[in-house]
Amino acid sequence: MTRRKLVAGNWKMHGMAADLVEVEAIAAAAARHSGVDVALCVPATLIAPAVARAGALPIGAQDCHAAAKGAHTGCLSAAMLREAGASLTIVGHSERRADQNETSQDAWAKAAAARQAGLSVILCCGETEAERDAGRAERVVQAQIEKSVPEDASGDWFTLAYEPRWAIGTGRTPTLDEIAAIHAIARAKMRQLVGDAADGIRILYGGSVTGTNAPAILSTADVDGALVGGASLTAEKFVPIIDAAA
Ligand code: G3P
Repeated sequence: MTRRKLVAGNWKMHGMAADLVEVEAIAAAAARHSGVDVALCVPATLIAPAVARAGALPIGAQDCHAAAKGAHTGCLSAAMLREAGASLTIVGHSERRADQNETSQDAWAKAAAARQAGLSVILCCGETEAERDAGRAERVVQAQIEKSVPEDASGDWFTLAYEPRWAIGTGRTPTLDEIAAIHAIARAKMRQLVGDAADGIRILYGGSVTGTNAPAILSTADVDGALVGGASLTAEKFVPIIDAAA
């Protein structure tokens, strides 16, 4: 099955009002490429102003709470993010797994809450360097998928992102063969979980994607796009990745 590529930016804890000019420039570039989907996940404080300047570019969040409301100081529900203008959210990012001790079960609940609120979801998985060195990368990713992917996942709202933790922000990436191997395993696991719907679900690669390595990574079997951190912060760095996907 042919799946449209998706290039999503994750600004993490970067971005002030002054950076909205980059949103505009990225939106303009995305509008030039009708054959590729582009999205930008900004800090929650920037969602509404980014939406106001993004035109047709979907703006997303980077996390949501699993509950609809309640006594959770400092947290944001999926419905709040939706109301602010977000159309998607990342869940289960490895930085939240590491910094906030989030589990795959948490990611599952957050994905379900996001879906309920009308948000699309990019759910992250990926092994640590120690797990890869121990030859456990494939098993770790399979287990994460099994525990975190909602049983009603389908391509119209759900995307999986494979982000090996050791490749995030390090300038290091797996080989193309290693990326292809994990993506094939991820798709097989998804097929076990959701059947034929797995064919319509995009699997993104994330971890030190740049304009230089994007053409090769995005041409790798079963890679349906990229989740980009550092190189999504400016149009100058992000647009070449969008170009490579087009
Ligand atoms: O979610 C994107 C990510 O974690 C990759 O970050 O900076 O290595 O592109 P980066």
